[in-house]
Amino acid sequence: MRKNKSSKNWIIEQHRDQYFKQAKSSGLRSRSAFKLLELNKKFKLFSNCQTVIDLGSYPGGWSQMLKKNLKNCKIISVDIKKMEQIEGVDFLCCDFLKEESKEKILKKLKNKADLLVSDMAADTTGNKDLDCIRTNALCAEVIEFSSLVLKESGVVISKLFNGQDFLNVKNLAKSKFREVNFFKPESSRGYSKETYIHCAGIRTL
Ligand SMILES: C[S@@+](CC[C@H](N)C(=O)[O-])C[C@H]1O[C@@H](n2cnc3c(N)ncnc32)[C@H](O)[C@@H]1O
Repeated sequence: MRKNKSSKNWIIEQHRDQYFKQAKSSGLRSRSAFKLLELNKKFKLFSNCQTVIDLGSYPGGWSQMLKKNLKNCKIISVDIKKMEQIEGVDFLCCDFLKEESKEKILKKLKNKADLLVSDMAADTTGNKDLDCIRTNALCAEVIEFSSLVLKESGVVISKLFNGQDFLNVKNLAKSKFREVNFFKPESSRGYSKETYIHCAGIRTL
């Protein structure tokens, strides 16, 4: 039987809601945790990581996933909102956009990081264009910051929106990294313009 568009949407939504239910039953703090799992499946993020930085970590789903999948790895998580403690995760409560916050992160690092993940999103204002510009500006800051904290072979994953300034961020990433890809996880809501940029291998010249 051919399904009409609204019943198809309903099935898709139900399917996506499974992530919420699954997160709850697995003790995960967010359904976003599954996005990181999908990103890992696509880009093999979790191999050979000794140091990881998780930006925009509250309430902690990604940090929980990192902790679960990375043994003997230093995890530094950062959010402007206070995140409830996760054993073995070093949390910094600060605004990433402030210079002093970046210095605090640098101080926490003994060695350069293998992986920098960011799920940061600016608070919504009701103006979708403005929200997009502000979240994409956060993504650009993450890419700029990555050259300070990542090993040459390091990897960045960062949320961005497919809208205003998307191309500027893509070009910035291409100027800094040898490999740049985009991936929208299944668990990311279909109506959202959210996607993730994957950057690998810092350009040295
Ligand atoms: C989608 S949530 C992250 C969810 C998280 N990955 C998880 O799995 O639980 C986005 C987070 O980005 C944070 N954020 C936004 N702007 C920030 C900034 N300038 N500095 C630090 N955190 C920021 C927000 O406070 C929010 O908690």
